Amino acid sequence: MKRAVYPGTFDPITKGHLDIAQRAAKLVDELIIGVAADTYKHNLFSLDERVALVRAAVAEFANVRVEGFEGLLVDFVRSQGACAIVRGLRAVSDFEYEFQVYLMNKRLSPQIETIFLMTTDNYTFLSSSIVKRVASLGGSVSNLVPPEVESALKLKFRQTS
Ligand code: COA
Repeated sequence: MKRAVYPGTFDPITKGHLDIAQRAAKLVDELIIGVAADTYKHNLFSLDERVALVRAAVAEFANVRVEGFEGLLVDFVRSQGACAIVRGLRAVSDFEYEFQVYLMNKRLSPQIETIFLMTTDNYTFLSSSIVKRVASLGGSVSNLVPPEVESALKLKFRQTS
């Protein structure tokens, strides 16, 4: 069985991430979306909240599973019996960072490949940060995130305001 891991912070998951997950799922038998517990970022949603939102968003994808993980990505990939990491590339600006991470992961675990998928054009400039910024100011993000995420953002910003 060919498995790949699509990792990220997913704070929160957007339609751009879903586009990558949907396309990646067609290339493998099973896609595991790995939600990173602790990144260098200050997250709005807890790990449990982020995992729950990703699960709700991919509930209808037949061969996609969602797991939270801590520690090194390559260790998580190995623990899942996967052979590849999937990353989305949005614009040229992503390339340098992604290449650096790719090289480090390759050094840590040479047998794990990284597959890059180019994002669909209407999500090129989408990011979780921009979604959070707009939502925090009361703007609509309904065409950028799944409905559960839109509701969770509204609730979160009502609680914090
Ligand atoms: N559509 C929309 N937005 C996208 C996107 C797409 N297709 N692809 C990426 N993004 C956005 C994300 O929303 C995020 O935006 P934000 O910065 O505003 O939050 C940004 O691009 C990149 O985030 P993400 O894809 O979550 O990656 P990341 O840089 O936060 O890295 C891990 C997350 C999990 C891959 C990385 O931290 C990791 O591997 N951690 C484990 C520790 C480890 O092994 N480190 C060694 C590796 S060097």
